[in-house]
Amino acid sequence: MNTEVAKAPVPRKTHAQALERWNGRYAAPGFLFGEAPNAYLASKADLLPRRGRALSVADGEGRNSVWLAEHGLAVDALDFSPVALAKARALAAARGVAVDFARANVVELEWPAALYDVIAAIFIQFATPTERSRLFGWFKQALKPGGLLVLQGYRVEQLAYGTGGPPERDHLYTVDMVREAFADCEIVELAGYDAEIHEGSGHKGMSALLGAVVRRPPGA
Ligand SMILES: C[S@@+](CC[C@H](N)C(=O)[O-])C[C@H]1O[C@@H](n2cnc3c(N)ncnc32)[C@H](O)[C@@H]1O
Repeated sequence: MNTEVAKAPVPRKTHAQALERWNGRYAAPGFLFGEAPNAYLASKADLLPRRGRALSVADGEGRNSVWLAEHGLAVDALDFSPVALAKARALAAARGVAVDFARANVVELEWPAALYDVIAAIFIQFATPTERSRLFGWFKQALKPGGLLVLQGYRVEQLAYGTGGPPERDHLYTVDMVREAFADCEIVELAGYDAEIHEGSGHKGMSALLGAVVRRPPGA
């Protein structure tokens, strides 16, 4: 029997249900994904400029935006959860850096053009396939020519590990999907890999990951 076909589809959450779920997860004491930056993002420190403007998309409790600010960048950070944003503001204050935090539904935002030197999109897998393709297009638009996108997410193989990430298969990445989505950019790095990660209690254990660094072409 083909168990893939037999599995019941995961019901889609409404925007209100998703927001309630995230606010609830972030209401627990501590940092759901820890205070240290995502390891893939941090491993790209040497590729990232130390001056200029960065955006952390769906930034959560601030671990990545704070690290980008410590790296030297002027950072904007967006998330739709006010509970996450309050924690993120507290983390930035505790670490003595300025981050411009704002509440936004990133799938409905009026995205700017050619504003950012760096965009970090770390575990943004709330996006449906349609939303994802719009978001990827907006990232390209919002980067300055020559700007870099750092993307980290789970691959479809993560469903077998169950150590974090969404249950919806079509929210997960494949290497081919990302290569195709950024075919009009310079793919600096694109890797599917399995690794043990420890990011708070939210992402914990052996995981099927994808990491990518993509450059908007300098002349685009
Ligand atoms: C898995 S968490 C990752 C958080 C952060 N990027 C990190 O790596 O720590 C996903 C984040 O997406 C946010 N989120 C979900 N849907 C969103 C939306 N439509 N607009 C903005 N943020 C959203 C959630 O509040 C949550 O903080």
